[in-house]
Amino acid sequence: MDRELNGAMRSVSINSAQLNGHNNGGGLDETDRVGVAQGAALSATEKLTTTTAAATKSTTAATNATTATTTNLATHSPQQIALLSAAEKSKMVHELCQQLLLTDEQVEELCYRILHELRRGLAKDTHPKANVKCFVTYVQDLPNGNERGKFLALDLGGTNFRVLLIHLQENNDFQMESRIYAIPQHIMIGSGTQLFDHIAECLSNFMAEHNVYKERLPLGFTFSFPLRQLGLTKGLLETWTKGFNCAGVVNEDVVQLLKDAIARRGDVQIDVCAILNDTTGTLMSCAWKNHNCKIGLIVGTGANACYMERVEEAELFAAEDPRKKHVLINTEWGAFGDNGALDFVRTEFDRDIDVHSINPGKQTFEKMISGMYMGELVRLVLVKMTQAGILFNGQDSEVLNTRGLFFTKYVSEIEADEPGNFTNCRLVLEELGLTNATDGDCANVRYICECVSKRAAHLVSAGIATLINKMDEPTVTVGVDGSVYRFHPKFHNLMVEKISQLIKPGITFDLMLSEDGSGRGAALVAAVACREDILNGKK
Ligand code: GLC
Repeated sequence: MDRELNGAMRSVSINSAQLNGHNNGGGLDETDRVGVAQGAALSATEKLTTTTAAATKSTTAATNATTATTTNLATHSPQQIALLSAAEKSKMVHELCQQLLLTDEQVEELCYRILHELRRGLAKDTHPKANVKCFVTYVQDLPNGNERGKFLALDLGGTNFRVLLIHLQENNDFQMESRIYAIPQHIMIGSGTQLFDHIAECLSNFMAEHNVYKERLPLGFTFSFPLRQLGLTKGLLETWTKGFNCAGVVNEDVVQLLKDAIARRGDVQIDVCAILNDTTGTLMSCAWKNHNCKIGLIVGTGANACYMERVEEAELFAAEDPRKKHVLINTEWGAFGDNGALDFVRTEFDRDIDVHSINPGKQTFEKMISGMYMGELVRLVLVKMTQAGILFNGQDSEVLNTRGLFFTKYVSEIEADEPGNFTNCRLVLEELGLTNATDGDCANVRYICECVSKRAAHLVSAGIATLINKMDEPTVTVGVDGSVYRFHPKFHNLMVEKISQLIKPGITFDLMLSEDGSGRGAALVAAVACREDILNGKK
């Protein structure tokens, strides 16, 4: 109870400066109120009340802003709007995009709420109902650079499924061979048996092609979905995310399903040494070179982070070795907001994405950030503005009107144009069948992309800053991977700038691009697991 109390006090005090003159945010949900009220001392409760009261004011302001735009759109026909000057159209675009911009106060409020949700995930009492699950990964040891040997890795959960053969060598050197295999759509939403049979078949083909068919190699399985881990080699799938929905896997031990599929074939032999999340792999691959790396982040098809937590904070972890003070936590923060905690910053476009997704009501935070949704968010804004006559003289195209056809890579390409130059932008618009765009249209399209990607970067930054502040260590390196972070021209800088604003004075941080975390990281987790087994005399 004491710790609960301290926790709530601390969570409030981090934000106490921000709460003065606070003017944002919708109300917290019922469970949130109870959670904080139980733990918080009076002053904290008072501050919270201030937030909620002030929040109402800003919601009204936001609604007013949207209404002003809507009035314009409502009182002018698309034909009339199409005749407006370029400057007037640009003003309308900026007004409509206002809802996509996060104020400093909103970002600070987000940090506060994320911290609150992290605590709910970590604590035994609140974990069952928490959205941000904070799963224990059972990883306690970071690589020390001495890991050696040949490992297999499987990587499922990004855009592609991959099998890898990794040879860890001296001097932080390694060799890696890998092959990408498609997971056809019918398998992504078929039966679990089909999925794991497919994985086993790819593994067997890969081993044959790489002359390790007869060897029994240790294998690390990067399985990038929410996993309730019961050990380093046992984990039950909590729920599917990112477009996967295979029957019969939820609540099952994924390692067992893999072993069963391999046994059904009966041709190859492997030792599954570890199952891990891609965020874990990312952290491990960076920690191999940089021992300050204590956070792993993915901003790719999905969005998620893991971090090193003090064992006493991770109430669901039954520590075996009292000498080990930390354990890696997979936050699964993509589900942040599933209880309404993000409603104060969600827009009509976010709601549209959610309603038409394979998992409505789930992964709310992820749907505002990750590559699976970013292009679609931009498309929805473009469609709305085109229909209103603000863009392209009101002329749309079939591709523009089709869900999923504005790829997230377009956002990066458009923003990679030098200011005032629209070469990439025009190429993208041509692919969309929009050939009559003016320079004004291009500038507006670019602005929309910037609003969507900047919001994503700021949301991620709120999450990372919250973790850095919670860990409270003087220096933290964040290992990062994922297509959005890697390929968006400004994501890194936007993050560095925002995180710097949000972390406590005196803490320094840096963002380190991971070199194939899901592959090499899996080998490293397997290698560290083997190292520990050898030390403990289990092998
Ligand atoms: C989704 C998954 C999570 C993964 C992330 C990035 O959020 O649930 O496990 O880490 O995508 O791939």
